[in-house]
Amino acid sequence: MKTKPGFPGFIILSGAFVILLVLSVCGQEGQSPKYRDGVYQGTSRGYIDDVTVELKITNGRIESVTVVKHGETAPQNAPLLIPEQIVSRQGIEGVDAVSGATSTSKAILDATGKALEKAAVDQPSPAPTIIPQKEDKHMKKSLGANHFTPSPVWVIGSYDKEGKPNVMTAAWVGICCSDPPCVTISLRKATYTYGNIMERKAYTVNLPSEEFLKQTDYFGLVSGRDTDKFKATDLTPVKSELVDAPYVKEFPLILECQLVHSYEAGLHTMFIGEIKDVKADESILGPNGLPDMAKLKPFMYLPKDSNYYRMGEKIGKGFSVGKEITR
Ligand SMILES: Cc1cc2nc3c(=O)[nH]c(=O)nc-3n(C[C@H](O)[C@H](O)[C@H](O)COP(=O)(O)O)c2cc1C
Repeated sequence: MKTKPGFPGFIILSGAFVILLVLSVCGQEGQSPKYRDGVYQGTSRGYIDDVTVELKITNGRIESVTVVKHGETAPQNAPLLIPEQIVSRQGIEGVDAVSGATSTSKAILDATGKALEKAAVDQPSPAPTIIPQKEDKHMKKSLGANHFTPSPVWVIGSYDKEGKPNVMTAAWVGICCSDPPCVTISLRKATYTYGNIMERKAYTVNLPSEEFLKQTDYFGLVSGRDTDKFKATDLTPVKSELVDAPYVKEFPLILECQLVHSYEAGLHTMFIGEIKDVKADESILGPNGLPDMAKLKPFMYLPKDSNYYRMGEKIGKGFSVGKEITR
């Protein structure tokens, strides 16, 4: 015959139940996880080939086990049934082998055991995988919209309204057409030379050699508006026979140009001049009758660091060294 507990007995039983409940909850909560979260792999030898499993641990629990590779010919349902059991038992202990696939079952269990070893919290943390970053030397850094390119240095010769010869240094110079041969120079309106060219429709482009570095720099420092730059440097203006402009006698290479176009580019006006003739000192010509760079000794200007640089030695033949790639 069952007897109902009296009031004190009921209180004792309820209290014990609450204590047990609290202990059990605390026990679960307080248990530190056995496994670290992550994905781990393990491999073991099956009947025919290796069996690899992938184990996913989430919140310290085995969330899934997947056989990612096996070469067994008769695995039965082992790749499905064994993982199911492992997940439900949260481990490999007590998992039954699938009949007819004992070796495969054992291999799956063994591989899972190895993966669990890796996941175990008392294992040292696997070293982080460091993917080596490939160094890219061509990674470009923006320098802003500006002019940074090195340019050969030239001196522009012109006459003013009264016929006074003037010279100014210019780096914004370049060949712009080969037939008819043309050269472009870009000048600010503020230069005295600008007005001279507008007036006379002609100019010379003179190439100084290194020995005239100082004079060339000077030509860019002062204006012909208030100075006679030829007199100040003891250089000699020679009137071109082909165009209405003077050239610098002492400079080794000169281009005599007739103005054919002008274009407003912004701060600078581009003048395009047809080259009527190129004249050179014989002393700078090579055995082939052409200017020899080693004798000419032109120099470059690098705008943003404001320095002049010597031009280098010959490094290869144009329209030739690249042929190797066309083969
Ligand atoms: C290395 C160098 C390059 C120069 N390049 C140019 C140029 O391409 N265009 C320009 O307008 N001024 C350029 N200048 C500035 C002119 O040479 C300078 O304003 C000169 O005083 C103008 O002379 P002018 O007033 O007698 O014509 C350059 C100056 C130097 C030192």
